[in-house]
Amino acid sequence: MRLLADFVDVFLSCVCQTRYCVTSATHFRFKMAPSTPLLAVRGSNGTSMIGGPPDCVENTTFKRDERQSRFFTFSKDGALFAWCNGDKVNVVNVSDGQVVQSLDLPKTACLEFSPQKSVLVTWQPYSKTQESAHGDQNLHLWDVQSGECLKSFYQKKMQGWCPSWSDDESIAVRNVNNELHFFENNKFDTIANKLHLQKVTEFLLSPGPQPSKVAVYVPGSKGAPSFVRLYQYPNFGGPTSALANKSFFKSDRVVMLWNNKATAVLVTASTEVDKTGASYYGEQTLHYLAVNGESAVVQLPKNGPIYDVVWNPNSTEFCVVYGFMPAKVTVYNLKCDPVFDFGTGPRNAAYYSPQGHILVLAGFGNLRGQMEVWDVKKYKLVSKPQAPDSTFFSWCPDGEHIVTATCAPRLRVSNGYKIWHYTGTVLQKYDTPADGELWEVQWQPCADGVFPAKPVKYQAAPSELGSTEPKPAQVYRPPALRNKPNTSSKLHEEEPPQNMKQLPGGDKQLSKTALKNQKKREAKKAAKQETKPDTPQDKQPEPEPKPTSPALAGAVSGDPEADKKIKNLKKKIKAIEQLKELQASGKQLEKNQIEKMQKESQLLQELEDLELGI
Ligand SMILES: *[C@@H]1O[C@H](CO)[C@@H](O)[C@H](O)[C@H]1NC(C)=O
Ligand SMILES: *[C@@H]1O[C@H](CO)[C@@H](O)[C@H](O)[C@H]1NC(C)=O
Ligand SMILES: *[C@@H]1O[C@H](CO)[C@@H](O)[C@H](O)[C@H]1NC(C)=O
Ligand SMILES: *[C@@H]1O[C@H](CO)[C@@H](O)[C@H](O)[C@H]1NC(C)=O
Repeated sequence: MRLLADFVDVFLSCVCQTRYCVTSATHFRFKMAPSTPLLAVRGSNGTSMIGGPPDCVENTTFKRDERQSRFFTFSKDGALFAWCNGDKVNVVNVSDGQVVQSLDLPKTACLEFSPQKSVLVTWQPYSKTQESAHGDQNLHLWDVQSGECLKSFYQKKMQGWCPSWSDDESIAVRNVNNELHFFENNKFDTIANKLHLQKVTEFLLSPGPQPSKVAVYVPGSKGAPSFVRLYQYPNFGGPTSALANKSFFKSDRVVMLWNNKATAVLVTASTEVDKTGASYYGEQTLHYLAVNGESAVVQLPKNGPIYDVVWNPNSTEFCVVYGFMPAKVTVYNLKCDPVFDFGTGPRNAAYYSPQGHILVLAGFGNLRGQMEVWDVKKYKLVSKPQAPDSTFFSWCPDGEHIVTATCAPRLRVSNGYKIWHYTGTVLQKYDTPADGELWEVQWQPCADGVFPAKPVKYQAAPSELGSTEPKPAQVYRPPALRNKPNTSSKLHEEEPPQNMKQLPGGDKQLSKTALKNQKKREAKKAAKQETKPDTPQDKQPEPEPKPTSPALAGAVSGDPEADKKIKNLKKKIKAIEQLKELQASGKQLEKNQIEKMQKESQLLQELEDLELGI
C-alpha cells in the first residue's frame, strides 16, 4: 500500500501543469481529474513539450530550446526534466519551468535520474587526453538539488553505462569488469558488497520495495552451459545461496525481465547464428525463473524467432510474440502454461497498457504498422488501427492514449508523430517539415496509481482526424501464385485466437509428443515457404521508404569491442539493404533472406544504441 502522503506528492507532480495547477485546498486537488501527461519532443528544430490530449498544444511553461539536443529524460515521477544540448545539461521543474540545475557538460551523451531523483547521472564518451594517458573519468553522479558532483567513474563502454538503483535508492549497482559492485544509500566512496562469479556480463536489479533481488547472467565457456541465477541482496555466499538457478546452452546473449512484483524473471537467450540453419539470425529460447526456486523453459508451439516478451503489469501473466511470419502470440501464466492464444498475424511486438487492462499487438519495422488493440479481461478485440512506418510506440501513463512516431535515424523520410486513443482515433498528428527530422518523443511518466484503469471503451473516440482502420484488404498472394487457383491461401493459414482455458477436456497443454510433432510440422511448413510469409491482410508488398542507416556513415566508438559489434551490425544491415533492392526489383527471396530482412529494425536499434553519443 502506498502511503497517502506519497500519493499526494506523486499526484501533484503529475497534475500540477500550467493549465490545471491548483494552489490551495488539498482536498480540492483530489477531486480534479489529473490532466494527461506531457509529451517531450526532440528533433532537428530543438526540444519542446506538448500538452496531452485533448488539446495537444505546446506547453509554454517549458521554454523551447532551439538548440539540438542529444538526449533527454524525465525523473521517474515526471516532476523533473533534463536534457543536454551540446553545451549545458539542464534540469527543470516541469510544473513551474524553474531551472533546477544547469551544468557545463558539453560532451554529455546520456543522462539518467536515480529513482527518487536525488542523483543525476551523466555519461560522455571516454577519451584519452594529452595530459593523462588514462583519460578522464567520464561518468559523473550529481546531487540534483545542490549541483555538487558526488562521484566520478571511468566507464568506457556505453552499454550498461548507468548504475542501477533499487526504487528506494538504498542500493546502487555497477558492473565493473564482470563483477558487481554494490553501494548503499548513495555513498559511492565505499563498495558495500561485491558479487563475483566467473564473468557476469548482464545483471538486473529487481523493481519495487526491499528486499532487492538481483538476476545475473554468466555466459558459458569451454563447453560449460550459460546460467542465470537469482540472489537476494546481500546473500551472495556461494552457489547454494542462490534463490534460483537455470543453466542452458545456445546462448550468446540474453535479455532479462523482472515482473513488477519481483517474483519472477523471464530470460530470452539468443545465439548469434542458428546452427540448424533455420534462421540466419540465430536461435532464441525463453526461460523462466522464480524467486521461489522454480524454473522452466517456456514451450512455444511454433518455430522461429522470439520477437517480443512482455509481462502483464499485474505480474501474473506474460505475453510472447514468436514464430515465423505470420507470428503467433500467446499469453502464459506463472506455471508457463498457455492461457490465451491470439492466433497468427503480422506482428512482432506487444505492449500492455500501464494498468494492464489493454494489450496492443503490433507489426512494425519490416511489417506495415498493423495494430490489434485487445481488452485483456475479456480477450475481445477493441480496434485495429494502422500506423505505417512507425519506429516507436509508447503507451501514455493514463492508459487511454498512445503515441506512435517515425523517427530518424531509423527512417529519414516522413518523420512525425501521432497521438491516438486506443479505440483507433487519431487525436493529434504532427508531420516534421521535409527539411527537418524528428529524433525522439517521450511521455512524462507518472507514479503508479495516478491513473487507475477505467472500463474499456469500444466506441471510437470522436476526432476530426478520424480513425485509420485499414480498409478490408485483399488477401495477399505471392506474385508467383497470382494467376493460379486459390489453393495458396493455405500458405498463410491464419490461426484464429483461442482461449486455452476453455479447450474441451480442460487440459490446455499439448502433450510433449504432440508439441514435438506440431513443431516438426511448423518447421516443414516454414521450409516450404519460399515467398514472403507476410500477412494475409496485406496487399502487394510495396518497397518501403528507404531507411538511410545511420550506421553506414562510419563512426567508431573508440571501444574495440563495440567497434567490432558495430562493424558486424553494419555488415548485416548492408546485406539487408541489398536484399530490399532485390525484392523491390521483383525478385523472389529465400526464406532465410526474408528472415534476415525482418531483423532490420532490431539491428538498427542495436546500432543506434551502440553509436549514440559518437
Ligand atoms: C516544482 O515546483 C513546484 C511549484 O513551484 C513545487 O511545489 C515542487 O516542489 C517543485 N518540485 C521539485 C522536484 O523541485
Ligand atoms: C543452485 O545451484 C547450486 C549448485 O550449482 C545448488 O547448490 C543450489 O541448491 C541451487 N539452488 C537452487 C535454488 O536450485
Ligand atoms: C492479471 O490480469 C489477467 C488478465 O486480465 C487476469 O486474468 C488476472 O486475474 C490478473 N491477476 C491479478 C492477480 O490481478
Ligand atoms: C480467388 O480469390 C480472389 C480474391 O480473394 C477472388 O476474387 C476469386 O474469385 C477467387 N477465385 C476462386 C477460384 O475462388
